Amino acid sequence: MLDSKVVIVTGAASGIGRSAAVMFAKYGAKVIVADIDEKGAIETVGRIKASRLGEAIFEKTDVSNSRDTEACVRASVEKFGRLDCLFSNAGINPTGTVEDTSEELWERVLSINLKGMYLMCKASIPEMKRAGGGSIVCTSSVDGVLAIHNEAAYIASKGGVIALTRSIALDFAKDRIRANCILPGAIRTPLLEKFLAENPSIGDQSGGHAMGRIGEPEEVASMAMYLLSDASSFVTGAVIPVDGGYSAVKT
Ligand SMILES: NC(=O)c1ccc[n+]([C@@H]2O[C@H](COP(=O)([O-])OP(=O)(O)OC[C@H]3O[C@@H](n4cnc5c(N)ncnc54)[C@H](O)[C@@H]3O)[C@@H](O)[C@H]2O)c1
Repeated sequence: MLDSKVVIVTGAASGIGRSAAVMFAKYGAKVIVADIDEKGAIETVGRIKASRLGEAIFEKTDVSNSRDTEACVRASVEKFGRLDCLFSNAGINPTGTVEDTSEELWERVLSINLKGMYLMCKASIPEMKRAGGGSIVCTSSVDGVLAIHNEAAYIASKGGVIALTRSIALDFAKDRIRANCILPGAIRTPLLEKFLAENPSIGDQSGGHAMGRIGEPEEVASMAMYLLSDASSFVTGAVIPVDGGYSAVKT
């Protein structure tokens, strides 16, 4: 499905990004595993190599730093000769209302979750143009369209990701670059486990989803793979929930 496409995956040391990197390689992609977490990222590359199903390299990347995002795209071109696709997925989700979120935390969340997407796209688009086109998928969240308590900075950042993705879809359609956005519901990853451990009053998340369960990282990765692949050639500017019906339920 991604035969010989060169794909950068950010946040690929863990959770949805790791699952996506492994899946994309299995379906023929050459993958740049980008993350700040060196240990986790090397494990992701190891899993890909062990499966003998695809090629992968690790590029240490802080998505909030333009030097790193530019170096990440350069690494893709130096190693694999081109860049076709970007799964811009790295993110953090600290809690807090507007009242108790410090200015420093606000800036950190926005600079990883939103500025990080802008920087990765800014660095990637010129190479995609050179390759004759490309596909970008950004990970937002159902929280980008439906507010939940105590997540002000996260929600603001994820709403911004949706708007940014639509803007890219519009500006670069003429260059044969598509951009789409995924809104996961609750997905079984270290990020969710940490969030639930720190907020025990929230309880089990399954009930909010029409399907009565939370999702698995592979269920988000497979939507990302479809959107990156040529199978979605007429899909751009789309905002797609992968949430077991969470956004369809009136609670
Ligand atoms: N798990 C969920 O329930 C859920 C729901 C909705 C949206 N999301 C979104 O999905 C994406 C992936 O989340 P996950 O659940 O797999 O989380 P995760 O914590 O398992 O993985 C996130 C990865 O991002 C990396 N990262 C953090 N800051 C970074 C930075 N500055 N530069 C590069 N990498 C960085 C981490 O090291 C980690 O490997 C995030 O954008 C998250 O907001 C997750």
